[in-house]
Amino acid sequence: MRIAFVGKGGSGKTTLSALTIDYLKKTKLPILAIDADINMHLGGLIGFDNNTKLNISDSDSIKKIKTYLKGDNNRIKSLVEFRKTTPPNSLSNFVNLSNKDDYILSNYVIKKDNIYLMNVGTYEKGEIGASCYHNNLAILENILSHLIDRDGYVVSDMVAGIDAFAGSLHAQFDILFLSVEPTRRGVDVYNQYIELAKAAGVDNLLFVIGNKIKNEKDKDFLKSFIPENKIVGYLYLSEYLSDADQECSPLDIDKIEENNMDLFFNIGKMINSITPDLKSRFKKLYKLHKKYVSQDSIKDRFGDLTYQIDSTFDPSSI
Ligand SMILES: Nc1ncnc2c1ncn2[C@@H]1O[C@H](COP(=O)(O)OP(=O)(O)OP(=O)(O)O)[C@@H](O)[C@H]1O
Ligand SMILES: [Mg+2]
Repeated sequence: MRIAFVGKGGSGKTTLSALTIDYLKKTKLPILAIDADINMHLGGLIGFDNNTKLNISDSDSIKKIKTYLKGDNNRIKSLVEFRKTTPPNSLSNFVNLSNKDDYILSNYVIKKDNIYLMNVGTYEKGEIGASCYHNNLAILENILSHLIDRDGYVVSDMVAGIDAFAGSLHAQFDILFLSVEPTRRGVDVYNQYIELAKAAGVDNLLFVIGNKIKNEKDKDFLKSFIPENKIVGYLYLSEYLSDADQECSPLDIDKIEENNMDLFFNIGKMINSITPDLKSRFKKLYKLHKKYVSQDSIKDRFGDLTYQIDSTFDPSSI
C-alpha cells in the first residue's frame, strides 16, 4: 500500500506524513518512509538523525541503483535509455519491502525498527543553475515502478506544488492525501489538484485532509468547496505540534490531542479498505511512458523507446 502526502508549501505534508508513519508503525509491518522534498525534514520528525547525507539522487547512487534495477532487462540497452517512465519486466530486479537483505534497502535507506527512511536528496553543487528537482525525482520514479510493497507501507512526503504530476509519480501511489488549509489559497490549490488528478485519471485516489483547523467555521468553509466524501478528516491546530516544532523534537502520535486522533483512525480505515490495483497502476505507467517517449527530444536521441514496454510481463507475478 502506497500513500503520498501532497499539497501547498507549509500546508502540513511533512507533519501528516510523520504522524501517519508513527501511527502505522504499530502494525510492525515494514514502512518505507520517503522524503521526496528538496528540504529534507521527514527524518528528523520520525526520529532519525536529520544530518544524514545518504540519498538516492546523487550521480553515483543513480548509476548503481539503475544498474541494479535493470538486472537482465534486455529492453534497456544502456543506462541512459533507462528513463523515468521505463517499466520493469520479468528480468528486472525489484526492491522488495519484505526482504531484509534487499540490495536497495541495505544500501540506500537508513533503518530503525520497522521503518526504512529513503531520502531523495537535493541538488549537487554542480547542478546549481543547470537542473530542476524533476531530475532528482526521476530515480524515485524508477524505484517505485520496481517496488514490491505487498506486505508493507510506503509513505511519501512529496515536494510542495504539482511536481507529482510532471512525471509518473501521481500514478505510482494507491492514495494521494492532499493537505488543505481553510483559506482561499488552500481551496485554490485543491481545485488545481483535482483538475490535474482528473486529467491524469487519478481523481478517485485523491483525498483531502483539512489542516490547521481552528473551529467548526473552518470545517464549514472547506465543506463549502470540497465534497464531503473527499474529506478524510481534520487535523486541528495543535499546541503539541507547535511545541514539537519549536523544540525540534520527533513527533509521537500518542502525544497528539484526542480531537486529532479521529483523523488517523480514518486514515487507517481508508488504507485498510483499499486493495492496490496493480493492473491499473501499470496501465497508467505504460500510458505515461508512451507519452514521455513520444517527445521529439527523446525520439531524436534514442529512437523508439515504446519497445521497453513488455506486454508479456504480468505485474501480479512479482
Ligand atoms: N495542525 C497543526 N497544528 C499546529 N502546527 C502545525 C499543524 N500542521 C502543521 N503545523 C506546522 O506548520 C508548519 C508547516 O508544516 P509542515 O512542515 O508539515 O508543512 P509542509 O507542507 O511539509 O511544508 P513544506 O512545503 O515547507 O515542506 C510546521 O511548523 C508545522 O509544525
Ligand atoms: Mg515538508
